[in-house]
Amino acid sequence: MNRRRFMTAALALGATGLAGEGARLTRPAIVEADDALTTGSSKYSTPGLRLTPFEDVTHYNNFYEFGVSKGDPAQNAWRLQTRPWSVKIEGEVKKERIFDIDALLKLRPMEQRVYQFRCVEAWSMVIPWAGYSLSELINECEPLPSAKFIQFISLDDPKDELLPWNAGISWPYVEGLRMDEAMHPLTLLAFGMYGQEMPKQDGAPVRVAVPWKYGFKSAKSIVKIRFVKDQPATTWNKIAPDEYGFYSNVNPNRPHPRWSQKTERVIGAPIWKQLQPTLMFNGYGDQVAYLYNGMDLIRNY
Ligand code: MTE
Repeated sequence: MNRRRFMTAALALGATGLAGEGARLTRPAIVEADDALTTGSSKYSTPGLRLTPFEDVTHYNNFYEFGVSKGDPAQNAWRLQTRPWSVKIEGEVKKERIFDIDALLKLRPMEQRVYQFRCVEAWSMVIPWAGYSLSELINECEPLPSAKFIQFISLDDPKDELLPWNAGISWPYVEGLRMDEAMHPLTLLAFGMYGQEMPKQDGAPVRVAVPWKYGFKSAKSIVKIRFVKDQPATTWNKIAPDEYGFYSNVNPNRPHPRWSQKTERVIGAPIWKQLQPTLMFNGYGDQVAYLYNGMDLIRNY
């Protein structure tokens, strides 16, 4: 790997930086080609956040295909074969297509974006992602006017990759967004983090990151993107519809039926800074609240 290039990328993460944050610089820079990595901070990056240590982001995971404990994905995700990899675009589009992962990596310049990430389980992290807006890919796919929603389909290859259990989930993991949510520039198609290729346990080689929604909306290791007319099925909504709604916007005013959403535990923070109030839309209200004008966000949780 080109270490200098990685360091340039890391420096672009800004004052919060990586030094002393426990980052392990072990993975390749996510893009090797000269013209493919934009090191400048994206205008969509969130300033002033303290990065979660890389060690925590990669060892405290939810990736049920590789186990149900937080440490399981780090141990088991080596099974995931990320090459060859392609993403099929299907459904309400002018023409169905298959993108090889290397073509997707080069489709648009990579941007470094620091986002606050809030899990429905009331913990949070701050992650420097690398990717570009999902809207860039959507525009390339020429969806039909009938495409009102988009569904993400994660890997499903029980033969070699998934552990031989289903954790009560019927694979593949599926998630979805309304079309205007998917087109919002903050919705990121992410290929890496901390300037490196996406670690397998975090959803390599490509996932989404939707910062104003609970983390489960951000599907990992995506193999298909389907444009659909109607609100698509989503994994956690199928399992417990009264607990996990389709929208799942971060909302401190709508408690989960089994716990409050008013505060969150900041993973990796010193003990005296571990609890912080949860913000409406995870702090991204100025950018996204208009998407929900006139909607009852308690009913549409
Ligand atoms: N995507 C797939 N395919 N499988 C999963 O189990 N878990 C979701 C989401 N995407 C999940 C998934 C949940 S519950 C969360 S909180 C985030 O991924 C966790 O992402 P992280 O482990 O990178 O922090």
